[in-house]
Amino acid sequence: MNSKILITYASQGGSTAGVASAIGQTLASTGAEVIVLPVKEVTNLDSYQAIVIGSAVHSGKWMPEALVFIQQHQNSLRRIPTAIFQVCLMLAANNEQYKTFVPDWLTPVRSQIRPAAEGSFAGALWPDQYSKFTEKLGLRIFLATIKLKAGDYRDWDEIQKWSEKVSALLLPKGIYG
Ligand SMILES: Cc1cc2nc3c(=O)[nH]c(=O)nc-3n(C[C@H](O)[C@H](O)[C@H](O)COP(=O)(O)O)c2cc1C
Repeated sequence: MNSKILITYASQGGSTAGVASAIGQTLASTGAEVIVLPVKEVTNLDSYQAIVIGSAVHSGKWMPEALVFIQQHQNSLRRIPTAIFQVCLMLAANNEQYKTFVPDWLTPVRSQIRPAAEGSFAGALWPDQYSKFTEKLGLRIFLATIKLKAGDYRDWDEIQKWSEKVSALLLPKGIYG
């Protein structure tokens, strides 16, 4: 029987959803059955042999629905091999100091489950995609502060390498077939 893996995510602008799909494609290439779903559409984890959970970072935090998901399912997530990832923009900035903040955003997740692997990836941001004037303005100020242009900073090679590592960690050959 093929193993069944859930990749679940919280995303506002869609870039984290794209990262989740890419992770899913790499894991599916091992022969596993892969389901990719937003956290809000997942109710039960019982049928999965491994889980990958990811969230966009907004104001230094995972999105609320991702944290609620982890809290609600923490017992299952402690039992089922689980990896976590986050998508943010400060990793794309040319400032080593920003990179030191990034691992701390995983602390609320680590305090509830023990992930087998953690990934942090640069994402994408286009302020004009956001409808409210104040949101657009805030995001333009954020980009100016971290000295970055609006755009897509996702590194697909890095995401693929991480997914290959995660596949080996979550589904060691011969255990699940
Ligand atoms: C409201 C808002 C707040 C953000 N705050 C941060 C932040 O604190 N740190 C950071 O590195 N990136 C921050 N970002 C950038 C996002 O993490 C990045 O654009 C990510 O790719 C968004 O994922 P999504 O497209 O799946 O929503 C923020 C983006 C938005 C829209």
